[in-house]
Amino acid sequence: MEIVHVVGARPNFMKAAPAMAALSKRGIAQTLVHTGQHYDANMSDVFFQQLGMPAPDVNLEVGSGSHAVQTADVMVRLESVLLERRPSWVVVYGDVNSTLAAALVCAKLRLRVAHVEAGLRSGDRSMPEEINRLVTDQVADLLFTPSIDGNENLTREGVASEKTHLVGNVMIDTLTRLLPLAVEGQGHKGVSRWRDHRYTLVTLHRPSNVDDPALLGQFIEVLSELSAEMSVLFPVHPRTRKQIERVVMPKATENLHLMDPLGYMEFLALQSKAALVITDSGGIQEETTFLGIPCLTVRDNTERPVTVTIGTNILVGQDSNRLRNEAWRIFRGGVKKGGVPPFWDGKASERIAEIFAATEVT
Ligand code: UD1
Repeated sequence: MEIVHVVGARPNFMKAAPAMAALSKRGIAQTLVHTGQHYDANMSDVFFQQLGMPAPDVNLEVGSGSHAVQTADVMVRLESVLLERRPSWVVVYGDVNSTLAAALVCAKLRLRVAHVEAGLRSGDRSMPEEINRLVTDQVADLLFTPSIDGNENLTREGVASEKTHLVGNVMIDTLTRLLPLAVEGQGHKGVSRWRDHRYTLVTLHRPSNVDDPALLGQFIEVLSELSAEMSVLFPVHPRTRKQIERVVMPKATENLHLMDPLGYMEFLALQSKAALVITDSGGIQEETTFLGIPCLTVRDNTERPVTVTIGTNILVGQDSNRLRNEAWRIFRGGVKKGGVPPFWDGKASERIAEIFAATEVT
């Protein structure tokens, strides 16, 4: 049995790391393909180092491009790798363009493909990720869901229940493994100075939030207002960095700290001690729920509804006034209490490895 894992963008790495480790414990031969969708050292290499992942066996070096170009480049380059190796399984993660591209190649080559983090739906087809999720799940042969809503969505879409397994959240496997080290090592570059501070941590990178300079400007205005109460730390995604250059910056920014993207350990250390997290990321909604940290999500919907129904997440929409009001409410102590969804227990990858082992026997 040989398994090829395909990763490409930052949020894939912390999902693939524990799955690979669990499979490797069972002696299963594995190959890691990096599509190169993310290529900057601080968007890619640092995660491999900190997560203890093996270096990719193959890098397709597709880089950035329009959705069509990026997806097509992954498809063309991955096809020849898979034709040569003919693995027993290909594993894809999450909902980025690399995920969709790899799943399509497998479907056409009749190679079995497994999707980790299957079944999540926002219902919002204007998000590229929603299209990636829908199509990937339709062609996948094995679907690992992080929460029960994933199974329900797949059933509704006609996916056979034998293919679907509720395994829990692999990203939480990585978090539980590395949280003690991250907190201990708060001396990480750029993070230690915040150890004893009260701060809000921010990430914004969705095209719908950052590509319109007027809207991005409104959010930055609110962040500057909030920084009167406490420091606002904002590691800036490269997409957002480009757009910020077009924004008229507010006057009061001395307590609003725009930083380069952080490594996994540095970001986790900051997240675990934040008074508030403001984000439009999918994964960070989940991490804050697990950590019990208040989270305001700057989106109208989420494909991770358990973070709202069970966890600490509140959707404020793309609405700067609501963002401001909810943040002040939290600053004044109005914190939503949350719990941890079932199977977010650090053992999701073990369950995946068990299922692969059983699949091979039957
Ligand atoms: C991608 C995913 C998104 C995920 C995000 C996490 C898709 C459709 N989107 O969005 O779901 O939440 O990753 O980060 O797959 N860039 C760099 N250096 C890099 C990578 C990108 O400078 O290493 C810049 C380039 O200008 C590029 C832009 O960021 O054009 C966007 O990169 P891209 O991979 O297309 O999408 P993301 O916005 O990163």
